[in-house]
Amino acid sequence: ADPLRLAIAGLGTVGTGVVRLLQENAAMLAERAGRSLEIVAVSARDRMVERGVDLSRFAWEDDMTAMAARGDVDVVVELVGGADGPALTLARNAIAHGKALVTANKAMIAHHGLELAQAAETAGTALKFEAAVAGGIPVVKGLREGAAANRIETVYGVLNGTANYILSTMEASGADFASTLGEAQRLGYAEADPTFDIEGIDAAHKLAILASIAFGSRLDFASVACEGISRVRAADIRQADTLGYVVRLVASAEIDHAGEGPALLQQVRPCLVPKSHPLAHVTGATNAVVAQGNFVGRLLFQGAGAGDGPTASAVVADLIDIARGDIGTPFSVPAAALVPLPAADAGHH
Ligand code: NDP
Ligand code: HSE
Repeated sequence: ADPLRLAIAGLGTVGTGVVRLLQENAAMLAERAGRSLEIVAVSARDRMVERGVDLSRFAWEDDMTAMAARGDVDVVVELVGGADGPALTLARNAIAHGKALVTANKAMIAHHGLELAQAAETAGTALKFEAAVAGGIPVVKGLREGAAANRIETVYGVLNGTANYILSTMEASGADFASTLGEAQRLGYAEADPTFDIEGIDAAHKLAILASIAFGSRLDFASVACEGISRVRAADIRQADTLGYVVRLVASAEIDHAGEGPALLQQVRPCLVPKSHPLAHVTGATNAVVAQGNFVGRLLFQGAGAGDGPTASAVVADLIDIARGDIGTPFSVPAAALVPLPAADAGHH
């Protein structure tokens, strides 16, 4: 079979992880996908950076958006980041040229996922973003496909590895906020602007995507009520511990039936979690997602939520799907069928 030809935009933590995975597991991936996954072109900001992976056999594109028009590329893999800017231009162009798009960019999907999904569906191509939610955990596929037979009305969890790393490290060692954030950045967990991690915005992006998939509702990032961990002090964590709790940045979404019709309640905030609850055992950059299905019951997804290897694992899983011909649908229903739900008032809860 013909190889699946890839263009990779962004060669940072995730991009280099993807290159390394594709190179190290090449033979096995070809077997599983039924064809080889071949990188054709790569791009990043600075060509001169030594990235610890062999890029010598790939074309370098100074202008990453040019990748979208290359005749020798089947899939554009966007690992740059940012809701707008070059990532969005590349994504739009790639789909307009009929390329499949794989991305880890939750900010872009949270803001523009509906538009991109509609464009991909119209073009008859794939838009996949498993890596955008909870890093290596296959929770997008898990909810969209594995739990597809269920009505889901509640989904919640720990969706930001950096914030969880900070909270659980402060809890275990009493280390201070700034030094643990520095360590999370060094390990490749944090966003380019770590405010997104600390203020809950990254978790809110992921929650909006997850809620859309779980409920078949239209993405609504703007209505997520969001509070991060910047005001959590070591003393709060110690006091919680004394009372039998840990502090976790919990993202939760539910269908609220308290008003005249169903409404969407989405919140990200630091919560006291009893030590006996599964989320209390989620430490470091681990993420966990709990979903309640009306036939399957409670599902718990847990695993590495950030970092090069786990995130690359999710990106390449999407590539295998595409190589096998599984274009799928980006959300659990076609984009036009996603139900717009009014936002519930978070203040009433
Ligand atoms: P990095 O900052 O490590 O890498 C970003 C890459 O994009 C770099 O190679 C950079 O080039 C390139 N880049 C950035 N801006 C531009 C620009 N304006 N023009 C051209 N190239 C640009 O980010 P990550 O790898 O951590 O994250 C990438 C994406 O994956 C983001 O959307 C992030 O949210 C998402 N993600 C990250 C996870 C993680 O654990 N890190 C987990 C899940 C998702 P250069 O290297 O030359 O500066
Ligand atoms: N900055 C993100 C986090 C990366 O810490 O969870 C994974 O999406």
